[in-house]
Amino acid sequence: MSQATETAAAGTPRVLSGIQPTADSFHLGNYLGALRQWVALQDTHDAFYCVVDLHAITVEHDPAALRRRTRVSAAQLLAMGVDPERSTLFVQSHVPEHAELAWVLSCITGFGEASRMTQFKDKSAKQGASAASVGLFTYPILQAADILLYTPEPGENAPVFHVPVGEDQRQHLELTRDLAQRFNHRFGDTFVAPDAFIPAAAAKITDLQEPTAKMSKSASSPQGIIDVLEEPGPMRKKIMRAVTDTGTEVRYDEQNKAGVTNLLRVFSALEGTPIPDLETRYAGSGYGQFKKDLAQVVLDTFTPVRERTEKLLGDERHLDAILRHGAERAGAVAARTMEIVRDRVGFVGRGD
Ligand code: TYM
Repeated sequence: MSQATETAAAGTPRVLSGIQPTADSFHLGNYLGALRQWVALQDTHDAFYCVVDLHAITVEHDPAALRRRTRVSAAQLLAMGVDPERSTLFVQSHVPEHAELAWVLSCITGFGEASRMTQFKDKSAKQGASAASVGLFTYPILQAADILLYTPEPGENAPVFHVPVGEDQRQHLELTRDLAQRFNHRFGDTFVAPDAFIPAAAAKITDLQEPTAKMSKSASSPQGIIDVLEEPGPMRKKIMRAVTDTGTEVRYDEQNKAGVTNLLRVFSALEGTPIPDLETRYAGSGYGQFKKDLAQVVLDTFTPVRERTEKLLGDERHLDAILRHGAERAGAVAARTMEIVRDRVGFVGRGD
C-alpha cells in the first residue's frame, strides 16, 4: 500500500482532480485555475491527481499524440511540484473502475439532466450536434465517477472532500454532488458529496487576444494562449502583444478594461502582490513597462517547469514507473469503493 494512503488516517481531508492530455502543453489558465492548487493542497490533503485519457478520446484524436501527451502531462505535473511520495499521481485508464462506476452512475442520470451540461452544448455546437459522440455526451458522468471513486472513508470528523478546478467545471461538480446524493438516497450512504475548490481571483483566465473569452486549448488562437512549455522568446512576444484597450492606465476594470484586468489578475496571482499595489506601482508608466515586467514574472515561473519537464521526459522508464506506482495506490482505493457500490446496487459477488 502507498505511503500516502498508509499515513492518511480515516478522516484526513481528501482531494481529487483531473486534467485532459489533449495538448502538447498545459496553459496559463490550467496552471492558475487548477494546477497551482493541486500542488498546494498536497500539504494538507490526501491527494489523488489523474491524467484523464478516457476523457481525451471523447473527441476525435490521434493515438500517437494521445500517448505522447499523456506522458507530457504527467511530466509537467511532476515538474510543477506534484510529489509522487505525498500524492497519488496516475493515469485514468490504468484504473478500470473509472469506466465501471461511470456506467453505474449513467444509469441514475436523467437524459434531460445530462442534456443541460453547457460544456457539451458548446463543444457539440462546434462539430454539429449529430457528429458529437455519445462519449462526449456522457463525459460529465465519467468525471463524476473519477471523483466519487475516491470518496473519503468515514472518520471521526465530518469528511472533507475537495476538487480543485477552474470556474468552467462548476456545473460538472454540481452534477457530481447531485449523483452522490441520489446514489446515497437510493442505495444507502456511500459517497461524500465533494466541494469544488475554485480560486477566487484566477478562476477564469482569459484569452490574450480575446480578453472576454476563456483561455482554452481547443478554442484560443496560438497568440491568445500562453503555454507552460513555451520557449521564452515567443512567450515574451505574446504578452507584449496582448490586447489592451486604447487608454494607458493600468487599472482593474472588468467592464471597460477586460485585457488589462486579465493581465493584472495573472500578475497578482503569480507574484503574490495584491492588485491595488500593482495599480500603484504602474501608475503613470503605461502598458509597456507593465507587460515587460509581467513577461518576466511568467518566464521566471515557467522556465524551471519547462526544464524539469524535459528532464523527466528524457527518462520514460522512470516516469512510467511513477505512474505505475500511482495506479497501484489509486487502484486499491477504487477497488474498495467499487466493491461497496457493486454490493449496494445488488450485483452478486464472484465469491472470491
Ligand atoms: P481541462 O483538462 O479542460 O482543464 C484542467 C483544469 O484547468 C482549468 N482551466 C482553467 N482555469 C482558469 N482559467 C482558464 N482559462 C482555464 N482553462 C482550464 C479547468 O477548470 C480544470 O480544472 N473536465 C475536466 C477534467 C476532469 C476532471 C475530472 C477535473 C476529468 N475528470 C475530475 C476534476 C475532477 C477538464 O476538462 O479539465
